[in-house]
Amino acid sequence: MALVRTFLCVALPLFFEVSCLPERNEDTRLSFFAVGDFGGTDLFPFYTYTQKRVAQTMGKLADLGNISMILGLGDNFYYDGVQTVDDPRFKTTFEDVYTAPALERAKWLMIAGNHDYRSNISAQIAYTKKSHRWHFPYYYFTTVKKIPNTDMTVQIVMIDTMLLCNDGENYGFPSASEQLKWIVKTLEDSNADYLIVGGHHPIFSAGFHGNSDCLLSSLKPLLEKYDVTAYISGHDHNLQHIKEEDSSVHYFISGGGNFFVHAPMSYSTLPKNSLKLFYGLTGGFTAFDATPSSLKVTKISHIGKELYTTEIKLKKERQRRGVTLATRKRARRSFLGKRLRMLRGKKGATTIKSFIGQSPRKRTRKNQKQRK
Ligand SMILES: *[C@@H]1O[C@H](CO)[C@@H](O)[C@H](O)[C@H]1NC(C)=O
Ligand SMILES: *[C@@H]1O[C@H](CO)[C@@H](O)[C@H](O)[C@H]1NC(C)=O
Repeated sequence: MALVRTFLCVALPLFFEVSCLPERNEDTRLSFFAVGDFGGTDLFPFYTYTQKRVAQTMGKLADLGNISMILGLGDNFYYDGVQTVDDPRFKTTFEDVYTAPALERAKWLMIAGNHDYRSNISAQIAYTKKSHRWHFPYYYFTTVKKIPNTDMTVQIVMIDTMLLCNDGENYGFPSASEQLKWIVKTLEDSNADYLIVGGHHPIFSAGFHGNSDCLLSSLKPLLEKYDVTAYISGHDHNLQHIKEEDSSVHYFISGGGNFFVHAPMSYSTLPKNSLKLFYGLTGGFTAFDATPSSLKVTKISHIGKELYTTEIKLKKERQRRGVTLATRKRARRSFLGKRLRMLRGKKGATTIKSFIGQSPRKRTRKNQKQRK
């Protein structure tokens, strides 16, 4: 090997341009942030004190940590979303608040929250074309990022929990079953080393809003089946980490981008011993560091205090994912695979029916109706 390198670095440069400088400080880390419920306010100056402080801290740490991606977990504009793509709130609540150079450079992966649905989601999607950093290509989408200097990947799957739990088909939105099918396919096809799903509503929460029955029945089984590393959401205005003893999925809440509420009032509805962190005394956000060995998750306060850290080791099985995936793909092509798919489709449909009409968020549907 050494001989080959000597040849490449000594002989070849005589004829070709070959770089043989020692490799620069190989960083094998992909760092990104998540912040939810960061939509300011609809009164002047259109941001809150907490939002500004969280934004400044995110900016400082993003500059230091080479942050290239930020997951925006919905409720992007309080209290009633935006009206059109030219709505001044894009500037006053977003552009003028997240001003640090690193936050300017980063790609913001955006989804809608319940407050955004009080107005025009198409306008938020359309803003993707106007902004170099606002990335909201569709109600739900996925992005795969490489961990620098490795072959390993982090896949982010951003979903729309409003549409998943309030079937908006009749109001011109993609139906819950359509999205559910997309989620199944996306998770099934993933061979990422870390697979992270982001949505606005939590599945489990010890906070004011509590657990979501709809997501517990529709989404949670998929996270388990497809070995998702973590589900991250907002909606409750605090920072939480929840992990069931008998499941490998980690649940994080990062809803402190703008407000904070320190009231673990749904604590008793959580699975036994599952609550690892509950913090709502100030605003804050979540930092992720994906390396070849682990995904480190850190909860950070509005002034940059590290509140909590947990490290999720990369599972050995996950590295064998490729094999499972190939097997599954073969099955899909076979007749049996086809039958299995049909069955799964049927089961999916029942699940969806069973949660239509149970939704606590009917108001949004009415709003959409009024707008028509
Ligand atoms: C910063 O991150 C990007 C992509 O995540 C990577 O390509 C680059 O090498 C990193 N830079 C430093 C100085 O670590
Ligand atoms: C929503 O926003 C889009 C993009 O600005 C615009 O074309 C559309 O007319 C808006 N819809 C309503 C109902 O205002």
